[in-house]
Amino acid sequence: MEKTLVIFKPSAIERGLVGNILTRFQQKGLVITGMKMMQLNEAILREHYSHLVEKSFFPLLLKSMMASPVIVLCLAGKDAINVVRLMTGATNGREALPGTIRGDFASSNQENIIHASSSPEDAEAEIARFFAPGEIFDWTPANTPFIYSSLELN
Ligand code: TYD
Repeated sequence: MEKTLVIFKPSAIERGLVGNILTRFQQKGLVITGMKMMQLNEAILREHYSHLVEKSFFPLLLKSMMASPVIVLCLAGKDAINVVRLMTGATNGREALPGTIRGDFASSNQENIIHASSSPEDAEAEIARFFAPGEIFDWTPANTPFIYSSLELN
């Protein structure tokens, strides 16, 4: 199954939204294969947001992402990267569609609740960035035949 990385940002932690959003992912049929709390620092954020380091808002983004511990999550599922991005919605919460996580819980470009990997290359690099190999558990829930058809599993 494809894996993707989600970060519950300080905006989700501070606002007590972790359980609600985790429930959405589980209700969708995505499988938790890794989950932990950690405090991000500037070094890991410069790597994670390397495409944004030159942006004028980058110092504010750093401050926002270090404002509290975060929870990192590795989710698995068929087409998990695309499915989670669709569930996440547009970057700016004011433009994200209702029904998406950002559309329902965010009104900001910066304080937008979660990060979700945007491509297979990013997902692989991000999972390796935030998890040691022994922290990811490849397991198959017993309910898998009720989430996907046998055609979709091959
Ligand atoms: P980006 O990778 O463009 O978006 P996404 O999180 O949807 O993949 O941006 C990373 C984060 O940078 C974004 O979630 C919040 C922050 N950000 C701002 O604070 N202001 C901005 O104008 C943009 C584009 C992003």
